[in-house]
Amino acid sequence: MDILHVSAECYPIAKAGGLGDVVGSLPRFLNQIGHVSKVVMPMYRTKYLYSHEWQVVHKGYTNMGNWGFDYTIIKEKSDTQGFELYLLDINGLLDREKVYGYDDDTERFCAFQLAVLHWLNQWEKLPGAVHVHDHHTALIPFLMMHTYVFKRLQHVPTVLTIHNAQYQGIFGWDKVGYLPQWDSWKRGLLEWQGNINPLASGIKCAWKVTTVSQTYLTELTNMSNGLESLFEFEKGKCSGIINGIDVEVWNPDNDKYLTEHFSITSFDSGKAKNKKILCDIFGMDEEKPLFIFIGRLVHEKGADLLPQVILDSFNHIGRKMNFLFLGSGDHDTESKLTMLKSFSKGDYDVYIGYNETLSHQMYAGADFLIMPSRVEPCGLNQLYAMRYGTIPLVRKTGGLKDTVIDLADKHGYGITFDNASVGDITNAIYRALELHQEKKVFRSLRKKIMELDFTWHRSAEEYSTLYQSFQ
Ligand code: ADP
Ligand code: GLC
Repeated sequence: MDILHVSAECYPIAKAGGLGDVVGSLPRFLNQIGHVSKVVMPMYRTKYLYSHEWQVVHKGYTNMGNWGFDYTIIKEKSDTQGFELYLLDINGLLDREKVYGYDDDTERFCAFQLAVLHWLNQWEKLPGAVHVHDHHTALIPFLMMHTYVFKRLQHVPTVLTIHNAQYQGIFGWDKVGYLPQWDSWKRGLLEWQGNINPLASGIKCAWKVTTVSQTYLTELTNMSNGLESLFEFEKGKCSGIINGIDVEVWNPDNDKYLTEHFSITSFDSGKAKNKKILCDIFGMDEEKPLFIFIGRLVHEKGADLLPQVILDSFNHIGRKMNFLFLGSGDHDTESKLTMLKSFSKGDYDVYIGYNETLSHQMYAGADFLIMPSRVEPCGLNQLYAMRYGTIPLVRKTGGLKDTVIDLADKHGYGITFDNASVGDITNAIYRALELHQEKKVFRSLRKKIMELDFTWHRSAEEYSTLYQSFQ
């Protein structure tokens, strides 16, 4: 089947988090099982754009309310990612470096969606499904089904995948004029709690809705930033499909970001060499177990708990371990983590910012990964960590619960805890230290997690079944 993915992110073109990883790999795995997946995303001014070859495939003119604008679509000449990749440019809105974080993000993503549909409306053969991801593209199901101008697209099935329901893209009714005409009695399909809510609208209008793990879907009916009852109403068309990982990118045996490679037969020396590289950079003692955190420094990820975790661990357990963190986000957490550097030199360090190379080096060199998330729809870090022989310490929530089994179970391979609290995290660290001392058990566990299969194959089949239900 022909599937058009519409997304704000797609690795390696532009990535802010796991959404990019998923859209950069799922389409390729779908193609391997016989589909023809294409991806269209905004033409941000990224390194990838300037280092690859493109051809202009479409130029159009459309409007967002009273504002008429030109747009251009370019396609990558050779499909280096394993799927057709299209970038859409709108001067003044999408020609920026970053993916998000601008005051006019509402206008940027509204215009993007309108231009995508304006282009799609002119395709001779329409795709078998349009697959949209998160709120930035979640107005598309409504626009396809209910606006006059896109009437031709009414019968094209739509899938909305929710990677994160915390962010909903809400805007006021004063901006309703951005959208082309529709029957005003359908107002309820755009609205949630008095505003236009793109994510809620996507949930109402998409033919099928998926979340990135089964447990997250269950949690959403109890806790989803105001959308709980909507998930309850719509649960008949919702399903949870766990993310896979792209083992062509995330493979310790040929990872392009690493200088020391290792596999299941050479992980003892491979992990040690990678740990040494990290410890040399950050002035740490490589004999001590190394705990890492990688991710957005936000409440959702439990990042605000980390400063106290460091202090409590050093005070109560002693300076028996090293901590190395990588991330950016809330200013308060960033500055607390930065301040702690002077207090704990040699045992703790933090890199504030986004650094793809360092993240790979950290997964490869660490002993343990901490993920104390309050909310974690799927989580990819724990999957990458395991593939690189790094044992995950995770809070039992969302996808973390679905992918990490505690050691207490005979099939277990990770450390899990119930609460996103300093106490629970410190306890988990204590358990990890004990495990680290049992050299044989620790080693066999490393081997076990490296062998676990979190590839896309099974999940791509599940998406395939979903698309086929439209036929
Ligand atoms: P989320 O999408 O909620 O941020 P995921 O666990 O799904 O969380 O994916 C996070 C992805 O982003 C992983 O590939 C992780 O390695 C990467 N990542 C997060 N923060 C950083 C950072 N500061 N530098 C480099 N990579 C990062
Ligand atoms: C989101 C979620 C994360 C998930 C990722 C990819 O950003 O926060 O848990 O892994 O999307 O689906």
